[in-house]
Amino acid sequence: MQRTLALIKPDAQAAGHQGAIIARIQESGLRVLALKTLHLTTEQAQGFYYVHKERPFFGDLVKFMTEGKIVAMVLEGDDAIKRWRDLMGPTDATKAEKGTIRGDFGTSIERNASHGSDAEETAAFETAYFFAGLELA
Ligand code: RTP
Ligand code: MG
Repeated sequence: MQRTLALIKPDAQAAGHQGAIIARIQESGLRVLALKTLHLTTEQAQGFYYVHKERPFFGDLVKFMTEGKIVAMVLEGDDAIKRWRDLMGPTDATKAEKGTIRGDFGTSIERNASHGSDAEETAAFETAYFFAGLELA
């Protein structure tokens, strides 16, 4: 069993795609262990994406991630990290195939509808960033 952090980003949340995205997660067999809706502050978004702080797109990314509410989820299942990233598709939504979440609900390399942890270490950090231990019991 593995856990991963999934986010529905502000573009997909504002467009009302949260139900469709959660349905795809459940249809794939991944379990939604915890879920919350929240509006990140600038400091919270900077802290979440701190690994990208030197990248040229960092300022835009933080602005995007704080423009509206997001949904944060912990997903659980065998190989959950890779399975969720496969469901999302590649970072650039304009290159993502139809049938993937980013291909269907994203619109650009930045506004790509969803986030997924990329490794066990980042999944542990990101899960704990959004959820306390008791919320995952
Ligand atoms: P994520 O962390 O959100 O799941 O996305 P990812 O692994 O597929 O991509 P990553 O390289 O970690 O980038 C994080 C997010 O930054 C935005 N981005 N903008 N303007 C750009 O060139 C650019 N590149 C990346 C995207 O929102 C991306 O998901
Ligand atoms: Mg990433």
